[in-house]
Amino acid sequence: MSEAEDLRSQGISYQELISRDRVPPPRTLTLENVYRSPVASVPVMRYTSQAFHDLEMHKLWPKVWQMACREEEIPEVGDHLVYEIGRYSIIVVRTQDGVRAHHNVCRHRGRRLCERAGHAASFICPFHGFSWHLDGSLRGITSEWDFPQIDRSNFTLTPVRCDTWGGWVFVNMDMDAEPMASYLGDLPEHFAVWKPEGRYIEAHVAKVMSCNWKLCQEAFMEAFHVINTHPQILAAIGDENSQYDAWGNFSRAITPNGTPSPHLRRAPSEQEMFESVMMRHLDDPPAPKVPPETTARAMMAAAARANLQPVVGDDVVISDACVSDSIYYTLFPNFHPWGGYNRIVYRFRPYENRCDKSVMECYYLSPFAGERPQPAPMHWLEEDEPWTNAPELGLLAKVFTQDTFNLPQVQKGLEAAQYDEVMLANYQETKIRHFHTLLADYLG
Ligand code: FES
Ligand SMILES: [Fe+2]
Repeated sequence: MSEAEDLRSQGISYQELISRDRVPPPRTLTLENVYRSPVASVPVMRYTSQAFHDLEMHKLWPKVWQMACREEEIPEVGDHLVYEIGRYSIIVVRTQDGVRAHHNVCRHRGRRLCERAGHAASFICPFHGFSWHLDGSLRGITSEWDFPQIDRSNFTLTPVRCDTWGGWVFVNMDMDAEPMASYLGDLPEHFAVWKPEGRYIEAHVAKVMSCNWKLCQEAFMEAFHVINTHPQILAAIGDENSQYDAWGNFSRAITPNGTPSPHLRRAPSEQEMFESVMMRHLDDPPAPKVPPETTARAMMAAAARANLQPVVGDDVVISDACVSDSIYYTLFPNFHPWGGYNRIVYRFRPYENRCDKSVMECYYLSPFAGERPQPAPMHWLEEDEPWTNAPELGLLAKVFTQDTFNLPQVQKGLEAAQYDEVMLANYQETKIRHFHTLLADYLG
């Protein structure tokens, strides 16, 4: 009996399911790393207290490696953008020597240097005109004779550490932080087979949410909510059969598709599963029949593989699991790249400097054949705009509407709660337990 067996639900395990696949999965999907955390509940004030938010601004955000942007967003020397996290603002810029990051604060009297993304030969402060080169070294002081106290050699923009992996740019405000490679641990190895550096931003939607940033991301860290939040997909999703793991600073959930939910009283036929996955409309032509010698899962995988193979190239092995299952990683604290050939990447941040509002972003990172397409610009949705105002998200906009429908009500509920702790499931909320264990380590 494996260590997971006494923890997870009854029924087929993910490992058993993928062992029957026609095209077997990459090695990292066959790993199982049960995470046992003493965190069985979380203080309500972590979601509702501005003082707790301020503590995160003091002890968490300035200390962690966090995804600031994609490299493709700043392809040319001089291209830059502004990454904001709470009260902090960071310029990420392409220089002759690669990508660099600086605090977005003028060293004279503190004006914000850049207000938006752009292209520049140097950074010139709009207030009195002090200027810096792209690498952060001083370029010029207005009326230099009047500043005898300034030593030109160290009057640089305040540096921020910067590194890249998989086409993403990461920053860390702590100059003494551990190197990014050790912070990521084995995460790049898990993604090597899916080549995230070879993807482009097909869509990028950001929406202001009426809830704490952690509350928002936790809605995307388990499949436990499927039974009530997305009942329409139960016929072909192994919600309760999901596998949850954690290693170092990252965790993973894998929710299999093309297998029925253990919550269903009657097991659907392969045909019913296939039709459910296709999310068909009433006026669509009849669905193809699933022949007796095959399964809905195998048929789905074969169709997805046929579509994808010309894009990724004939030398890439596309396993059934990589095109069928929901494989959702979380790198502490707020970065959620999906594995396999699912295009989703989420990022969650506080909105401005508030504990009760957040920004949820969804990127679609898609493979491409031939020349790299231009990245899609960010599409900003205000608090009162529905996800369906972003047609580039396709069918998923409706799923997000279901996912986020509860969140303002959870925030309101917690703000009125007459108890101190919310309860976490032992196994299915593994990722949330892992997150809060690390968070407590940072906040002390
Ligand atoms: S505040 Fe920037 S030059 Fe004065
Ligand atoms: Fe969901």
